[in-house]
Amino acid sequence: MRFTTVLLSLAFGSVFAEAENDDDLISFVTLPKVRALKFDITYQDRDAIAPGYWFVAPYGVIDPEVPTQQWKPCQVGPYIYDTDGMLIWAGSCMFDNRNVFDFKAANNIDDQSHLSFILQHAFHDDGSDKGYGYILDQHYDEEYKVPVTNNLGAFNMHEFNVLDGGKTALACLYRSEYTDLSALGRPEDHSWIVSGGLVELDTKTGEVLFEWSSFNNVLVDESVKVSTDSPGSGHPGWDYIHVNSADKNTLGDYLLSARFTGTLYYISKEGEIVWRLGGKYSDFDMDFTFSKQHHARFLESNATHHLISFLNNASDEGGNEENASSALYVQLDTTVSPMTARVVRRINRPDNGLTRLRGNVQALPNGNTFVGWSERGYQSEHAADGKLLMEAKFASTRFSSYRSYKYPFTGRPSSPPDVVSSVYGTSELDMTTIFHVSWNGATDVASWRFYARAFEGGSPVLVGETLKTDFETMYIAEGYMDWVSVEAVDKDGNHLGKSEVHKTMTPGNWQHAGFQTESTPGPDDPAALYLIEEQEDNDDEHDMGDMDMDDTESHLDPEKAAKAVEKAYEMVRGVGGLLIFILLACSLGGLVAGIYYYLRQRRLRAYYEVPSDETERQPLESS
Ligand SMILES: *[C@@H]1O[C@H](CO)[C@@H](O)[C@H](O)[C@H]1NC(C)=O
Ligand SMILES: *[C@@H]1O[C@H](CO)[C@@H](O)[C@H](O)[C@H]1NC(C)=O
Repeated sequence: MRFTTVLLSLAFGSVFAEAENDDDLISFVTLPKVRALKFDITYQDRDAIAPGYWFVAPYGVIDPEVPTQQWKPCQVGPYIYDTDGMLIWAGSCMFDNRNVFDFKAANNIDDQSHLSFILQHAFHDDGSDKGYGYILDQHYDEEYKVPVTNNLGAFNMHEFNVLDGGKTALACLYRSEYTDLSALGRPEDHSWIVSGGLVELDTKTGEVLFEWSSFNNVLVDESVKVSTDSPGSGHPGWDYIHVNSADKNTLGDYLLSARFTGTLYYISKEGEIVWRLGGKYSDFDMDFTFSKQHHARFLESNATHHLISFLNNASDEGGNEENASSALYVQLDTTVSPMTARVVRRINRPDNGLTRLRGNVQALPNGNTFVGWSERGYQSEHAADGKLLMEAKFASTRFSSYRSYKYPFTGRPSSPPDVVSSVYGTSELDMTTIFHVSWNGATDVASWRFYARAFEGGSPVLVGETLKTDFETMYIAEGYMDWVSVEAVDKDGNHLGKSEVHKTMTPGNWQHAGFQTESTPGPDDPAALYLIEEQEDNDDEHDMGDMDMDDTESHLDPEKAAKAVEKAYEMVRGVGGLLIFILLACSLGGLVAGIYYYLRQRRLRAYYEVPSDETERQPLESS
């Protein structure tokens, strides 16, 4: 596909000038601005993985940048892939290359699929765009755009945790405060510090319903970043606690992770720190150590016991306390004295590396664990016993994903499928129309049906059908099909959606593109080319009234249809690369006789192989 894409681009004169330097990226004819990342994937046990799609949000640098040419169009932002690394949705064009963090499916709102993420604050001298928490529906339309309504400077990038039912969501809070340093034994000294905490927001309005801050609750002496002789800081101040996740349990209490105190804080709904796990003042007897942790989550909670998960990255720029980062499941018992924290599962990073750049741990419903190790989008899935099932990372070293998640998801985009069609040929007798089709965000598309019509408002005629093979699928149809459209169908043949009617692109100069006469070819009537052929091929007689195309019912014989699709697919595969190679050579000015011969041959073959079953050629339904 990539080969043909590049050749086509050359033939068209340049859609992607830089494609050859970007082997880590995927380009598409139908979404020319998108540059999606490729994944390198290794499966250790394919059968044991959980169902679902991957949710990642690649970024290059954390800080928003001055608008420049540095980013290619539609590069960074939210993406969905399937477990083969096939792109499902590129959301990068939606936000003009703004960084997006914590992108995931929010399947806990109702019985529909939703998406949530943080859109980072924009680069603006005036700071007017502080970023938002977003919730989209399964059509990729905005449901909630949660603004910063208090005096904070930005929507913090670490967490947008939509709580069950979707009425509220948690976010992290960072705020500069001025304080004396009595916690360091220097009551006369003062410093700016950046306090950390959490807010619970109304997703409709952004109103802050609950706020907890470390200011005056967690003093600077808890920090691993501050020592008793640290000189005071100017504004904004010491990042002494650095919160990076927030969760809430069914009791209504909160779990806050702070990287620079190496501590998880259990905060009651009244705002009291009930206990600390880890760090200088841990309240637990622990059979393990952790540090620089990320993404702490309640898995089960009652008044006395909690099962939590988090990523122990055990490392930062300044050094590492352990040899490898790990995903931890920890059982807490608060009924005993001292309270106990016991590791119930530890999953080491499969490559034994250290995650220095964020990350997350996701307990999947089937007992598997999905871990985002962050740098270069490295992610792995593990069985309940910790056994490695899959690892994947971006082919690119240029991008990371703050977190990576796996969720079941149903995407039904409100925008229609994208189609690009182009016509080629050396004479009126061997015209060929090439389709490229994709549907950004659509899950469950199994195959594509291709339609043509004689004029824009004409009746659609089915000219072919093929399996969806990748994010973008190519199909070659006989003849010069001037007005085209496509229909997406699922594996049971159900209609999922259809494109608008598009006009086929023609070579700018037919003769330079290899057309052998001085005239310019005119479009074929698809009904004449496809329906009359069929009429002749078929033994049973059909009334010509079939050509009226007002019959919108489609009754496919599944077996016949599958065979026909397979044949058509094989034909396309067989001739696609060679045909395009020849067309390219032709546009460069050679091989004319060979092409003519080849296309004549192909025409014969095509007529022989194109499925001739009447039911294959139903019109696109009109609703
Ligand atoms: C709380 O959970 C623990 C661990 O699952 C369990 O042993 C205990 O019985 C539970 N307590 C209550 C009151 O349900
Ligand atoms: C780290 O690795 C070294 C050498 O392999 C080993 O001696 C040490 O015990 C390891 N440390 C930890 C915390 O696992």
